[in-house]
Amino acid sequence: MFNYQLGIIPALDVDIQKAKKIAEAVKGLKKEIAGLKIGSILCWQHGLPKVVGELKKVCDFPVIFDAQKACTDIPDIVRKQAKVVANAGVDAFIAAPQGAGSATLTAFVDACKEYQIVPIVVLEMTHPEFSAFLSRDAAERILEKSIDLGVRSFVAPANKPERLKLYKNIAKKKREVIKILSPGVGPQGGGPDTAVEAGADFVIVGRAIYKAGEPKEEVKRIYDLIDKAYSSRKE
Ligand code: C5P
Repeated sequence: MFNYQLGIIPALDVDIQKAKKIAEAVKGLKKEIAGLKIGSILCWQHGLPKVVGELKKVCDFPVIFDAQKACTDIPDIVRKQAKVVANAGVDAFIAAPQGAGSATLTAFVDACKEYQIVPIVVLEMTHPEFSAFLSRDAAERILEKSIDLGVRSFVAPANKPERLKLYKNIAKKKREVIKILSPGVGPQGGGPDTAVEAGADFVIVGRAIYKAGEPKEEVKRIYDLIDKAYSSRKE
């Protein structure tokens, strides 16, 4: 699904009618949209299979499930969660293994491979003080371990561009190419262009798109910015 080089992933933290309206509005933007991110707001209300089914009736974008946050439990539960998610028709599943440890992370990646969905791992959150209860090098250790397990897609903050550079460099030292999906654009202070210049390949955008009067025009505007930033990026 990440055959795309660059793109926007709208975060649909809205009700199902609004989510379908946005999917309908952007469904023609094949170059700009790399996938749709769904999460707890939609799925706790309507159920994962229904949400995925409704979106796939409207458009054919990959659907990324961010349980906000999954992969925090014992390995056995995480394996079962991946199966449920895959059976619902999801294409990629985001894990946040901070605090769960490497056995849980391994179970997550193995289960995603078994059920043929793309594993995506959160390295670091966007909000201040997120790491108050974590060791200082938690993100770096999660990245190294995940790369060793075969993960190539990571979530890291658009509003901390220096961290994006660091993660890309760690992967480079291991002779691997990783894709970074970056939330934190707009209300959380990050710029889509500065994130892409620093190494983001995809920007995850919630409020800036779903609160816009014309979500389609906003997607096109953001894509223009990231496209220019990508062209001037030095790998
Ligand atoms: O509205 P906004 O663009 O700030 O939404 C950001 C989206 O990205 C939300 O769905 C949030 O859960 C998610 N996210 C984040 N920071 C992370 C990981 C995910 O904001 N590190």
